[in-house]
Amino acid sequence: MIAVTIDGVVHEASSGERLIDVINRAGLQIAQVCYHPQLGPIQTCDTCMVETNGRLTRACATTVSAAMEISTNQRRPLQRKREAFGRILSNHVLYCTVCDNNNGNCTIHNTEKLLGMEHQPIPYHSKPYEEDHTNPFYRYDPQQCILCGRCVEACQDVQVNETLSINWEDPHPRVLWDGGSTIGESSCVSCGHCISVCPCNALMEKSMLGHAGFFTALPKTALTGMIDVVKGVEPGTGYGAILKLSEAESHMRESRIRRTKTVCTYCGVGCSFNVWTKDRHILKVQPLDGPTNGISTCVKGKFGWDFVNSADRLTKPLIREGGKFREASWDEALDLVARKFAETKTKNGPDSVAFVSSSKCTNEESYLMQKLSRAVIGTNNMDNCSRYCQAPATQGLFRTVGYGGDSGSIRDIENAGLVLIIGSNTAESHPVLATRVKRAHKLRQQKLIVVDLREHEMAKRADLFFRPKPGTDIVWLSAVSRYLLDNGMADTAFLNQWVNGLAEYKKSLAPFTLEFAAMTCGLSEETLKRVAHMIAEAKGVCILWAMGVTQHSMGSDTSTAISNLLLITGNYMKTGSGAYPLRGHNNVQGASDHGAMPNFLPGYQSVDDPEVRSRFEANWNVQLPSTKGLDNHEMIEAIYEGKRKAMYLFGEEMSLVDSNANFVGDGLSKLDFFVVQDIFFSATCHFADVVLPASPSLEKEGTFTSTERRIQRLYQVFEPLEGSRPDWQIIQDIANRLGAKWQYQHPSEIYREVASLTPLFAGVTYERLEGFKSLQWPVAADGTDQPLLYTKGFAFPDGKARLFPLALSEPTDQPDVEFDLHLNNGRLLEHFHEGNLTYRVEGIREKTPDTFVEVSPELAKQRGIQSGTWVQLTSRYGQVRVRALVTDRVQGKQLYMPMNSVESPVNRLTSSHTDPVTHTPAYKEASVHLRVLPEVGESPLPRINHRFGHPTPQHGVEVERKWKRPDYRVPGNGLIQIQTN
Ligand code: SF4
Ligand code: SF4
Ligand code: SF4
Ligand code: FES
Repeated sequence: MIAVTIDGVVHEASSGERLIDVINRAGLQIAQVCYHPQLGPIQTCDTCMVETNGRLTRACATTVSAAMEISTNQRRPLQRKREAFGRILSNHVLYCTVCDNNNGNCTIHNTEKLLGMEHQPIPYHSKPYEEDHTNPFYRYDPQQCILCGRCVEACQDVQVNETLSINWEDPHPRVLWDGGSTIGESSCVSCGHCISVCPCNALMEKSMLGHAGFFTALPKTALTGMIDVVKGVEPGTGYGAILKLSEAESHMRESRIRRTKTVCTYCGVGCSFNVWTKDRHILKVQPLDGPTNGISTCVKGKFGWDFVNSADRLTKPLIREGGKFREASWDEALDLVARKFAETKTKNGPDSVAFVSSSKCTNEESYLMQKLSRAVIGTNNMDNCSRYCQAPATQGLFRTVGYGGDSGSIRDIENAGLVLIIGSNTAESHPVLATRVKRAHKLRQQKLIVVDLREHEMAKRADLFFRPKPGTDIVWLSAVSRYLLDNGMADTAFLNQWVNGLAEYKKSLAPFTLEFAAMTCGLSEETLKRVAHMIAEAKGVCILWAMGVTQHSMGSDTSTAISNLLLITGNYMKTGSGAYPLRGHNNVQGASDHGAMPNFLPGYQSVDDPEVRSRFEANWNVQLPSTKGLDNHEMIEAIYEGKRKAMYLFGEEMSLVDSNANFVGDGLSKLDFFVVQDIFFSATCHFADVVLPASPSLEKEGTFTSTERRIQRLYQVFEPLEGSRPDWQIIQDIANRLGAKWQYQHPSEIYREVASLTPLFAGVTYERLEGFKSLQWPVAADGTDQPLLYTKGFAFPDGKARLFPLALSEPTDQPDVEFDLHLNNGRLLEHFHEGNLTYRVEGIREKTPDTFVEVSPELAKQRGIQSGTWVQLTSRYGQVRVRALVTDRVQGKQLYMPMNSVESPVNRLTSSHTDPVTHTPAYKEASVHLRVLPEVGESPLPRINHRFGHPTPQHGVEVERKWKRPDYRVPGNGLIQIQTN
């Protein structure tokens, strides 16, 4: 720490800290139009001028040093600030009262007030450009753009989509998309970073326009008239009176605009933000304080919420009668559900009933569902959709390090020396997490290796990208481990101190020579050596993996091989290292954590442990079943065997999402009684006997746990849509009709019970999660959490990790003469899963209306296929009809189908083969025959999809180009000490 003097008062600062941060921390008010703490110094506005040791400097670009004397608002710096702000105002008209951005947080308005300027010193000059409305979610108004460059900085160096720039050399600079395209036809992915950081109304969400203010819905002509009036009176009245009026209007807005914190309902990254609403209208999503995401979102979190108010939300329970559904009252439907479950239990025993919890719903809801299953019905037949994706990763970690969770935080990934991504399309499946890797790679020379069948965005950016043959990751991973051990590149000290089982493990590696791996995986030995050396030389390695690894018949073993590799190189127990299985759904981690599993009570406490059971039995006042129940996969098999008669599923689209969908659908139709609880009439509802209308995340309270084990609270944004109910209330109603006598009034009461029974969450309370606060489990009773999972040892009794020997296994469902193509599948940035939510977002549908199958240029040429050609794909299990998209993302005889389709779901083609340890389906092992159909349609992706854009990468806003303009001069006499970061 050092001491600096600001305006005569001594303040403490860290050496090297930005001066502007020190000034802000001290609570001093200084202008800073282009500065945003999460973007760093941009230096375009010159409004933050201060004097340090008698010389003018920009506070945002100056780092403090010991004994620095700073003067912020003396006459000279104040004049410079005003001069700089005057230039900004020449690009912007202050019509605050009729502006949708007049919400108390407009930087221009607030700076105007702070600097006390009464008039516009330089006349406003309009620019020769029209507003651009070509993006469905936001518009750009060049007339109001002050050229601060925050948006460019955010797009180039935080989101790293590299779409935006400013043409500083132009007589009339403006923000450009792809160097001059319309927004709609650019590479813009609609992530919203630029809009979220824009300090004024130049970039705005369309959902705000005409909705936020009391006078902003005026027709354009009336609005222009009012703006002209304001401009006309300003020379006479000065800004003071005009601003007073607009502030009164802004205060009036406070009574009708609500800002409620929530956590994203889509992927497992766990972005959190405020949702601005007026009645049931979503004005905008505003990220800023989220511990994971800060200012970041992707298109789904920022704009993907139309589904909440969709006209086809379920609002009445439905009961099947005579093959048709009829509407019913809640009482009738709940009575029927309870009666049927009770009858089934009495007649066929508790294990004839099964439960599937939702990875989209809250921790509290998963907890209640497993309590209903175990304590009320008496069965451990309880699972969630981690069975479909993440169970093998969890298994790999259970075997080697003890806990089934990411070993650090997203910040560790950002700080790693090397990131290795295997089988994860991170930029599309975990977009905000990917931005942190892209940023570190672009700005901090982080190394990046990507291993995948497809050349997706992260692959294109990688320092090393290679495509092993499908299902062979375990081979090259083991070969690299062996090479490291054989060549003295393992971390011997770490192995000696922290790891058991080295001898056995080494023995198991015998077959995995580089030569064998190169041949089996279709790679060169050189590539594998390069991987090994990059790992050995890196300062901290994080390995990220997802469904490209786990959804294989050897998914658990490959996940284990990843953890083995990290252990032998000492890449655990330190920041910037570790294992990161990227969880798909927003709460797939939490659903498993809270007991929605056949073998674990909450907190991974085994159902066959008598001590654990007796603790829960004492609290719940019941006798609990002690043998492992059925998982999702086994439940379907058991229906076919006639052992499973009734089932209760909520918030899951099982009939499309489970592998071999035809087989699963037929199975579900054989159930005697099936309850589905959802917000829409999903494809799975077609098999139900009772459908119960639930509420989405914005209509309830609770907690989610993200991929980095981060528990966060969500607050209720809207009342439940009339007729629907939060899932926890429905589950409680059913339990009570079965005699449970639960009396939870609020989810916080449920969590109090969870914490009291589960050491992993002992210190989790709603108070400790207030607002944007969060906790990363395990959480000790005193509230101490563990961002870095392993600090004092691993989660085994002796504190040591375990190397787990592995053997080779072959993928299933391999191509042959008839089914000659390999079909891969996965997510798409814009849609989530089958698309039940995202197809109800108009802007997303406009940009990405349908699914498709990606075909390589060489295969397309061979078979006479072009983008838009309809093809029929037939596997050993089913058939779909889909349009082709020709792209070099895939190669040779590889096909790729995104999973976002209800009409042509890829899972009609996938098999029932599973990973033997976890029963996770081998979705990624599918072979198909492709028949070209005579019809040729439009390309399945319209020209306005971002994939057709042409980004313009550069480092930030390149302010030096502005400074070179002949009309630029530093405010004042031009003497400035410029420091750059
Ligand atoms: S990708 Fe589009 S929405 Fe995202 S920051 Fe860039 S321009 Fe803005
Ligand atoms: S559009 Fe970009 S450059 Fe223009 S005011 Fe907004 S953030 Fe600044
Ligand atoms: S990255 Fe994931 S959590 Fe974040 S906004 Fe996008 S979908 Fe939501
Ligand atoms: S805040 Fe804009 S130059 Fe410092």
